[in-house]
Amino acid sequence: MSGFDPKRFIEDKVEWLRREIGGETAVVAVSGGVDSSVTAALGLRAIGERLRPVFLENGFMRLGEAERVRKALGRVGLKVRVYDVQEEFINALTGIKDAERKRKAFRETFYRVFSRIASELGARIVLQGTIAADIVETKGGVKTQHNVLEQIGINPMERYGFRVLEPLKELYKNQVRLVAEALGLPGEIVHRRPFPGPGLSIRILGEITREKLSIIKRATAVVDEELSDVKCFQAFPVLLEGRATGLAEDGSRKYGYIIALRVVASEDAMTANYVRLEWGRLEKVRDRLISAIPEVSRVLYDITDKPPATIEFE
Ligand code: XMP
Repeated sequence: MSGFDPKRFIEDKVEWLRREIGGETAVVAVSGGVDSSVTAALGLRAIGERLRPVFLENGFMRLGEAERVRKALGRVGLKVRVYDVQEEFINALTGIKDAERKRKAFRETFYRVFSRIASELGARIVLQGTIAADIVETKGGVKTQHNVLEQIGINPMERYGFRVLEPLKELYKNQVRLVAEALGLPGEIVHRRPFPGPGLSIRILGEITREKLSIIKRATAVVDEELSDVKCFQAFPVLLEGRATGLAEDGSRKYGYIIALRVVASEDAMTANYVRLEWGRLEKVRDRLISAIPEVSRVLYDITDKPPATIEFE
């Protein structure tokens, strides 16, 4: 990290992208996270309107995300086009139980859909915000990141018909944030908490169903709203497997879903500590979750650090 000069990095990468892309059109899938936003902003500097930023509404994104991202990136000149591809993703992931199989199914669907969109837009070059940690974790067998291909022996041109350029692949998250700041991206993007590529699919433990997806989306909206001001690396709910007994408002027995709340502090995601939230704060989130989501009967708070746990549950 020492000696890292974001301005110099930007100049070098913009130049490199210009050279690599030549006179072609390139496409970038933005998610609203800092990595893909920085990648898109570098691409815009390099080739202007020949860069086509797209947002794939894949059904596992947070509620209202497409519009939020379109507006935020629109402020820095990126005209994001939103594609609604929910049904394709939900059909591909529904019924899958195993965490790694979810990631692989997500990756396959992502590239299949993305390759169709790239070809519709006349682009044979894809800019991708893969960072060093994604590559290290995938190669090390920790977990399959949805955006790593060449590093694990998949040739994107042969399989999907496009070339991939990854301007951030040597950087870690904190360096990407410095570049984002130097590029003048909106603060809400520069400081945005990380969100996993496969989205909410890995925050539904075990089998994915449409009902569970609807629950985790509503729960995520509540937690984002309630805990947006907490100083932490990530704060999110996870829908656990199984059900627990509870009491409905009329006093009858209900057998409901269980939500775990995870709030962690971390520098680089390699280690993390759970955050000691005030009890009052926790109680408020609990009350809102229970009242907003009648299908939920219990809320638990995760007090495990990384290690021994990981940040996500899958
Ligand atoms: P873990 O769970 O390994 O998470 O402690 C470390 C950081 O990575 C994020 N994460 C992912 N990001 N695809 C991603 O793009 C994934 O499959 C994935 N799994 C975890 C996690 O949110 C945390 O910031």
